[in-house]
Amino acid sequence: MSTADIGVVGLAVMGSNLARNFARHGFTVAVYNRTYAKTEEMMSAHGDEGNFVPSQELSDFVASLARPRKAMIMVQAGKATDAVIDQLAELMEPGDMIIDGGNAHFDNTRRREAALRERGLHFVGTGVSGGEEGALLGPAIMPGGSAESYESLGPILEAIAAKAPDGTPCCTRLGPDGAGHFVKMVHNGIEYSDMQLIGEAYDLLRRGAGIEPAELSKLFGEWNAGELDSYLIEVTAEVLGHTDAATGKPFVDVVLDRAGQKGTGRWTVQNALDLGVPVTGIAEATFARALSSGVKQREGTVDLLTGPTEKTELPETFVEDVRQALYASKIVAYAQGFDQIAAASAEYDWGIDLGACSALWRAGCIIRAGFLDKITTAWRENPELPSLLAAPEFTKIVTDAQSAWRRVVSTAALAGIPTPGFSSALAYYDGLRSRRLPAAVIQGQRDFFGSHTYKRVDREGTFHTDWSGDR
Ligand code: NAP
Ligand code: ATR
Repeated sequence: MSTADIGVVGLAVMGSNLARNFARHGFTVAVYNRTYAKTEEMMSAHGDEGNFVPSQELSDFVASLARPRKAMIMVQAGKATDAVIDQLAELMEPGDMIIDGGNAHFDNTRRREAALRERGLHFVGTGVSGGEEGALLGPAIMPGGSAESYESLGPILEAIAAKAPDGTPCCTRLGPDGAGHFVKMVHNGIEYSDMQLIGEAYDLLRRGAGIEPAELSKLFGEWNAGELDSYLIEVTAEVLGHTDAATGKPFVDVVLDRAGQKGTGRWTVQNALDLGVPVTGIAEATFARALSSGVKQREGTVDLLTGPTEKTELPETFVEDVRQALYASKIVAYAQGFDQIAAASAEYDWGIDLGACSALWRAGCIIRAGFLDKITTAWRENPELPSLLAAPEFTKIVTDAQSAWRRVVSTAALAGIPTPGFSSALAYYDGLRSRRLPAAVIQGQRDFFGSHTYKRVDREGTFHTDWSGDR
């Protein structure tokens, strides 16, 4: 009987939790996993949570789906995803939908969507954020794909999505083909930036001000009750308050200080370079992870390179300064991420609504934060803002924070504590507010050595100077 409202292929942590989430919301869910033992395992552990239709063969799985069929893939990104799409496409009929909820690169999503469209099938590439727990209890869902597919798929996804404080589901169709996976990619880029900034705040307060992790845990807890309210600050308070059971030391002191990465930050930066969008915070955060795990360079220089010889005096307001610098730098990170989404939307003709995008990040995802309400309002009031920093509320926050921000960055430099995130965010702010940038010198250099020409401030046209007389 073809009764299932939706099906899930791939029953590892994400897939099984999403399937359970669908079932808990009253949907009949077809489930399939390449290795059938995993399907059996899930059914015996959770089969009583709702209506599941397990299949051992993919053809039975497809046959169990009500039309238009909706099969959501939650398998490893890359080759596995392509293999499953091919197998499903063979079994499906025009009008059916394949939904990829894995972390695919948006270029792959564009390619897959175009190929399936030729065959009359809908392909929906969707970002799913919130990890294992979010998948079960309510993730933020970022779908791309045809408006037609969203008509019947949207209500199912919206039912299982996290709900923002005002009750709105954190799931909106963002645009065609790769739009959803693109937004998920930039979400992860902002996440990198945010995590790096919080790490720098920790470093300044621990190394610079000598505050112990247990105290810092309380401080981050207090910050989380104010304008910095966000999941990542909350998590940091937990991490810093945790004691290692084996040694009794603060957990943070027994963890190797080398950050890994699966690649979404790198993708974000690579794409930003292609589009020419300065996402300096995301780039610095990605490189900071690379520096942390660059063992050869670190081990080979740690005893050679010296730091400041004199003790750095900290301003009395240092703790509050760091809080303000963190808030301002975070705003810059989000502003840069939105710039990248806007640029890609124009490039690929996606028509992404930035207000809808920020609204759906308000719950369920890793970068959820109280101030996303303000960001949502800013984009809704003026979708044409040249930058988030041009919204009156955000202009005020960053300009009010600038004295504290400058004290933090200069103190960090004097104390020899690296703050690539804080420093680059402040440099970006100063870059935006400078009426004249040194790019005029660069244009002169380019014209000198390569006859690349330049434009003038006082008249129209393109100019080249004959530099031979100056030599
Ligand atoms: P995963 O470890 O990425 O993938 C395991 C699943 O893929 C299993 O069901 C496995 O089947 C299946 N698979 C692998 N190769 C296959 C092939 N050639 N043909 C058919 N099936 C194949 O699982 P996950 O952590 O649940 O993540 C699923 C997807 O969600 C990934 O794309 C991931 O990037 C994305 N995601 C993960 C998170 C997270 O927090 N973990 C968050 C958001 C998105 P077998 O059991 O037969 O091996
Ligand atoms: P979600 O959006 O639900 O959290 P995700 O995108 O799969 O799910 O990963 C969440 C975050 O954990 C990402 O920032 C991811 O960074 P990568 O793009 O570098 O993977 C991070 N993460 C996952 N595995 C990691 C690892 N081994 N080391 C460091 N960060 C990791």
